[in-house]
Amino acid sequence: MEVMGRAFAPEYGEAWNRRQVSDSLLLTGTRYCLIGADGSIAPPPEEPVAGFALLRSIFDEEELLLFAVLPEYRGKGLGAALLKAVIAGATTRGIRRLFLEMRRNNPAGKLYAGFGFRTIGVRTGYYRTASGERLDALSQELIIIDN
Ligand SMILES: CC(C)(COP(=O)(O)OP(=O)(O)OC[C@H]1O[C@@H](n2cnc3c(N)ncnc32)[C@H](O)[C@@H]1OP(=O)(O)O)[C@@H](O)C(=O)NCCC(=O)NCCS
Repeated sequence: MEVMGRAFAPEYGEAWNRRQVSDSLLLTGTRYCLIGADGSIAPPPEEPVAGFALLRSIFDEEELLLFAVLPEYRGKGLGAALLKAVIAGATTRGIRRLFLEMRRNNPAGKLYAGFGFRTIGVRTGYYRTASGERLDALSQELIIIDN
């Protein structure tokens, strides 16, 4: 929750509160993945947490619901390491397709593209910022197992 509170720019309203997170984790198929400041996946309790991913799967598809690294740890490859672990975890679970939704022009798009995500749909004006600006949502897909 500390990462959640500081990683998302408030104007986009993307952060979830504690209740939303705990409720989501009660749902079958929801999982999270943590990365430590030292780059370790599922770090021991004494290691500071630098980032997390929250995911939900249904049958053989999984959605990356939230993905974030604390500002002070960015640009060191932790986001890429976390995404790699997320994809490895999905592959182990027999997931065939990984989905995510991001606002157009989010710099994270470069990271996702590097892992092979491609845009499969656009929801025009889907997000509304705190200042009232409308932003498109890009639906992206990574095919892990192609039929
Ligand atoms: C997206 C995010 C998790 C990336 O974390 P990170 O630890 O900085 O990622 P990495 O260091 O592994 O960067 C990987 C690549 O992504 C790109 N990238 C990621 N974030 C970027 C940013 N803010 N600005 C520019 N490029 C960025 C870079 O191309 C980088 O590759 P490079 O190092 O070869 O230049 C982090 O910026 C974040 O938490 N953002 C706020 C929350 C958010 O928008 N989450 C995604 C919601 S869809």
